[in-house]
Amino acid sequence: MKIIQGGMGAGVSNWQLARAVSVEGELGVVSGTATEVIMARRLQEGDEGGHTRRALAAFPDQEIADRIIRDYFAETMLERAVAKLPKVHKLNEPEQLAQDTIAANFVEVYLAKEGHNNPVGINLLTKIQLPVLASLYGAMLAGVDYVVMGAGVPREVPAILDKLIRHEDVSMALQVEGARSEDSFRSHLSPKNLIRNLPPELPRPAFYPIVASNVLATTMVRKATGKVDGLIVEGPTAGGHNAPPRGAMQLDANDEPIYGDRDEVDLGKISALGLPFYLAGGWGGVNKLKEALALEAAGIQVGTAFAFCTESGLAQTVKEAALRMASEGIGKVVTDVFASPTGFPFKVLSLEGTMSEVADYLTRPRVCNLGFLRHLYKKDDGEIGYRCPSEPENSYLAKGGGESELEGRKCLCNGLMANIGLGIPRNDGYFEPPLVTVGDCFNQLCELVKGWGEGYSASDVIEYLTRDLAPQT
Ligand SMILES: Cc1cc2nc3c(=O)[nH]c(=O)nc-3n(C[C@H](O)[C@H](O)[C@H](O)COP(=O)(O)O)c2cc1C
Repeated sequence: MKIIQGGMGAGVSNWQLARAVSVEGELGVVSGTATEVIMARRLQEGDEGGHTRRALAAFPDQEIADRIIRDYFAETMLERAVAKLPKVHKLNEPEQLAQDTIAANFVEVYLAKEGHNNPVGINLLTKIQLPVLASLYGAMLAGVDYVVMGAGVPREVPAILDKLIRHEDVSMALQVEGARSEDSFRSHLSPKNLIRNLPPELPRPAFYPIVASNVLATTMVRKATGKVDGLIVEGPTAGGHNAPPRGAMQLDANDEPIYGDRDEVDLGKISALGLPFYLAGGWGGVNKLKEALALEAAGIQVGTAFAFCTESGLAQTVKEAALRMASEGIGKVVTDVFASPTGFPFKVLSLEGTMSEVADYLTRPRVCNLGFLRHLYKKDDGEIGYRCPSEPENSYLAKGGGESELEGRKCLCNGLMANIGLGIPRNDGYFEPPLVTVGDCFNQLCELVKGWGEGYSASDVIEYLTRDLAPQT
């Protein structure tokens, strides 16, 4: 396996894309981000093809599967008018929400693995803390082979995987703003209390953290709570969230972060850690796989090229508009340090009709109805509170959030759901626009379009990426 198709949330790397890549013998990775909302929305949209219901029929606990179908499946257009969403995650959340999350991740991995025997991975963001345990467990119940995690330091995850294979109780430390060293906030999952009819011991997936520095790579390999099987080394040109530059954030004249020598990763030192490693961020072009292999990498992780292929979850309208721009070489990609409520830089493609256009975005009435990127903070009474700099200003400030945090923040949760054509209908009639993320290499997609047309497939991407390795005749 020389190519990992990067996990792309939310729902961009869906089961169809991951399956198509894995069938070709490379590693397909589903995104585990917000899958519980995506599963609910797919069921509300009538579950075309019956895929979600077929996967739910294989879920170990059929009472839960039936309840999920009763809660979300909509047969008629009338039923579809109002979105029924899973509740927003919080500590000590209702059992049903944990079950929805477990089942949704099970469904995504089950479908990606259906009908072939090749490995499939799941990608999770460490920063989206509360659903992590349930998402991992659901994916493992479906036999996920690789767990790929970035956006944070998932040091505790290896030991969590070791316990979940035996359905044991697990917990994970939570990052809580304002917490003191004596505080210990943890999320918990108790599989046996949530799911009946559990299978015997599960296979342990390989664990590949995503790192952006030598320090983090060494920490993960030497100080994680169990076995790390490999690394993904991701640079700041990659699509999605990027690690911030080391040291104090400095911006250039366009308000984009300045990366310097300190952000360069020494691949010799990575190689010396003795684990297979894959390079991500701008490696999806001609000759790049060969170059990566010459650097002793096991291969490359590619996102942007796969994001626009026929099997990906991006809405057709988004794909067409974007690929037209790439074909003409006029795509503009901005590394926006304000857009994401996480505070991490986030790459945004400038695209008409999406939230990238500031004037359009400012007309959006703020709402926080999905809550995946809410920050956890310690309230005066010692309990955990939840706030997001993209929620309505008044409520954010009332929860003690800083005014300077509000500026330029966009609602990634709603934008990303709109990207995949599953935007959340709103009572006030406002239509949530998409917010498209791509890597700096976006305009290189013109080569794929030139070779295979706008409807290029995942297997075309693999052919393109491996072309230089084929024996010359
Ligand atoms: C649309 C899109 C969404 C992404 N979402 C995620 C994500 O949810 N989690 C993650 O770890 N990486 C995410 N990434 C990064 C990819 O997994 C991959 O590492 C990256 O795209 C590789 O760089 P490239 O875009 O230059 O090929 C995303 C990338 C794109 C293009």
